[in-house]
Amino acid sequence: MGVREAVSGAERAKVVVEGVSKQFTRRGEALPVLADVDLEVHKGEFLCILGPSGCGKSTLLNIIAGFEKPSTGRVTIEGEVVRGPDPRRVFVFQEYGIFPWASVWDNVALGLRRMTDKGEQHDIVQKTIDLVGLSGFERSYPRELSGGMKQRVEVARALAVSPDVIYMDEPFGALDSLTRLTMRSELIRIWESEEKTILFVTHDVDESIQLAERVVVMSARPGRIADIVEVGLPHPRDLGSPEYGRIKNRLYELLGVEHSV
Ligand SMILES: Nc1ncnc2c1ncn2[C@@H]1O[C@H](COP(=O)(O)OP(=O)(O)OP(=O)(O)O)[C@@H](O)[C@H]1O
Ligand SMILES: [Mg+2]
Repeated sequence: MGVREAVSGAERAKVVVEGVSKQFTRRGEALPVLADVDLEVHKGEFLCILGPSGCGKSTLLNIIAGFEKPSTGRVTIEGEVVRGPDPRRVFVFQEYGIFPWASVWDNVALGLRRMTDKGEQHDIVQKTIDLVGLSGFERSYPRELSGGMKQRVEVARALAVSPDVIYMDEPFGALDSLTRLTMRSELIRIWESEEKTILFVTHDVDESIQLAERVVVMSARPGRIADIVEVGLPHPRDLGSPEYGRIKNRLYELLGVEHSV
C-alpha cells in the first residue's frame, strides 16, 4: 500500500483496534476471552458486532470504550490512544441506566448540568426529547413509561451530550419483539440525521442485518473476528428480499449454525 492510500485510510477510520487480546483470571487460571482482534471503524459508520453468548462482545466494546484495559494491543480513536472513558463518547447499556427518581426531562438534562447557557441547555433537552419521540412526556417518571419509552430516554440521554461515538451493548435486549423492530428503525432514523459513529453489540442475526453497514462476526471464546460482512442495503431495508436472505445465510454460516431461509 502506498503512503497516500495509508493516509486516506487513516482519515476515514474513526476507531482503530490493533492486535487486541484480553485474558481474565478465574480461580487463578488465565481465561483467554479475546484473541488478536484488529478492526477499523469508519467515521459515521453503523457497525454491529455479532457473536454467540460469551464470545467477548461486551469485553471488546468495554475495551474500545475505555472501561477495560486490553492485555495486549491498543485502541485509538482519531489517532489518540484510549486510556479510559471519555465524555466525548457515550455508552447505552443493556439494562436501563436511567434514574428512576428523575423525570424524563431531568434524566436527559443530567449530562448537560455543567452548561452555563441555560437557554441553550433547555433547547438541546427539548430537541433531543423530540428526536426520540417522547414529546409530551417530559414530566413523566420512568415508572410511568413502557420499556420501549424508557429505552428512548436512555438513547436521548446519550444523544444530548453530542457524542461523536455511541456504544450500544444489546440496548433493546429487554424489549418485546415488536418494540424492538420500532426501536431499530427509530435508531436508524436518528443515525441518518445525526451522523454519529455507532458500535452496536448484538447476538441477534436479524438485528445486525437490519441496522449495520457492516457486521463483524466473532467466533466463540476466545473471541476472534471470523469475518466482516458488508450489508450494503438501503434503508428502510426489505426484510423479505433475496439479498437479505443471502446475508442472513452467510451470517449463520459464519456462526456455525445450521439455517436456511
Ligand atoms: N470481569 C471479568 N472477570 C472474569 N471473567 C470475565 C469478566 N468479564 C467477562 N468475563 C468472561 O469473559 C467471557 C466473555 O464475556 P463477555 O461478557 O464479553 O461476552 P459476550 O459476548 O458479551 O456475551 P453475552 O452475549 O452473553 O453478553 C465470558 O466467559 C465471561 O465469563
Ligand atoms: Mg455481552
